[in-house]
Amino acid sequence: MKKILLVSALLAMAGVAQAADHGEQLYETYCMQCHGVQGHGNGVNAAHMSVQPRDHTDTKEMAARTDDELFKVIQQGGKAINKSVLMPMWGGNLSDDDIHALVAHLRQLCCGKD
Ligand code: HEC
Repeated sequence: MKKILLVSALLAMAGVAQAADHGEQLYETYCMQCHGVQGHGNGVNAAHMSVQPRDHTDTKEMAARTDDELFKVIQQGGKAINKSVLMPMWGGNLSDDDIHALVAHLRQLCCGKD
């Protein structure tokens, strides 16, 4: 019985790590041109934008956001949380699972959480 619990706990942990890896891949595909490779908000587009993309490694700013808010802004765009429309909405391209994976990746970037 104990063994089964241990195995399922390990599988659950692997699942979380996998979600974050998936998030990293998505981030590199869809987000880094504005938010930068490492999430510092200095992607190639940033120099030309009137509102600067968020530095996702800024622990103070990012810790102020709940996971729900991050989910919402990724799914529905900046406007959904009274931010700039320069943050696009991704709900049409990305599934809920994808967006959860991105939120997990953002938490790793900002707060070192696995
Ligand atoms: C076209 C450029 C662009 C792309 C691509 C982009 N963003 Fe953004 N993003 C922005 C800008 C600009 C802001 C800041 C909006 C503001 O401060 O009003 C922002 C803000 C955010 C915020 C809000 C942070 C906060 O609390 O203020 C999150 C979260 C975010 N982006 C995540 C993502 C993710 C995840 C992706 C990829 C799926 C992505 N962004 C792709 C431009 C972009």
